Amino acid sequence: MLNKIKRWKNRSHSSDLQEKILEIKQQPLPSHIAIIMDGNGRWAKKRALPRIAGHHEGMKVVRKVTKLASNLNIKTLTLYAFSTENWKRPKMEVDYLLKLPEEFLGTFLPELVEENVQVKMIGYKENLPKHTLSAVEKAINDTKNNTGLILNFALNYGSRAEILEAIKHVLNDYKSGIMNETEISEEMFSKYLMTAGLTDPDLLIRTSGEIRLSNFMLWQLAYTEFWFTDVLWPDFSETHFLEAIAAFQNRQRRFGGV
Ligand code: FPP
Repeated sequence: MLNKIKRWKNRSHSSDLQEKILEIKQQPLPSHIAIIMDGNGRWAKKRALPRIAGHHEGMKVVRKVTKLASNLNIKTLTLYAFSTENWKRPKMEVDYLLKLPEEFLGTFLPELVEENVQVKMIGYKENLPKHTLSAVEKAINDTKNNTGLILNFALNYGSRAEILEAIKHVLNDYKSGIMNETEISEEMFSKYLMTAGLTDPDLLIRTSGEIRLSNFMLWQLAYTEFWFTDVLWPDFSETHFLEAIAAFQNRQRRFGGV
């Protein structure tokens, strides 16, 4: 099985890319990479296509980046696929965006299982359509014993709401005597967030030239290195991904020290 995976990986990358991969692997890699996949609409507009065509193309990039992250032995890849603010979009686009996890997992789940990928999700499950949630839950369940890359979808996710909810839980636990105020620490608070159990991202990538966080992992990104590119998400390639990682490897992280 391992040999089969190796053959498949080698076949899927050009020798030039293989070389870059080997080079990147010489230095410490980010353990957790988070991506704000932006620019699908503009990509489509440039081609006089409907916006949903950009989202569909963006889904193909998700597959490519996941494969490469897995190949690089990255521990966690968090992808911002649908924010709590995205409900403001036209219904047709919202419906389409919420069908994509189903399409993606319907097609690629066997590949993810074979690649030893674990699927996870952060975000509010309550308002998601049944078909979206059941596709994601099936993937989570089918991959729960895998030990490789954690592919973490942020779906109906919003960071401020996540923080407020965590505060409410902390207050409840305080009131019911489960904890006292001396126990309140950054580490403890992190356990109340949807990302409990995951490390904070080391690298954040945002495509399409927008330089903002858009309510994404505000607590978790406190010491993360940011990498922005003008490339629109559907044009984002393996080479861009490696470029972002190489930039990360050239940063000096001091975490507030000297
Ligand atoms: C932002 O681009 C992108 C999104 C809101 C959706 C991102 C979703 C995908 C890339 C596909 C997800 C795939 C899976 C497997 C869940 P935009 O529409 O805001 O682009 P614009 O700023 O150019 O209009």
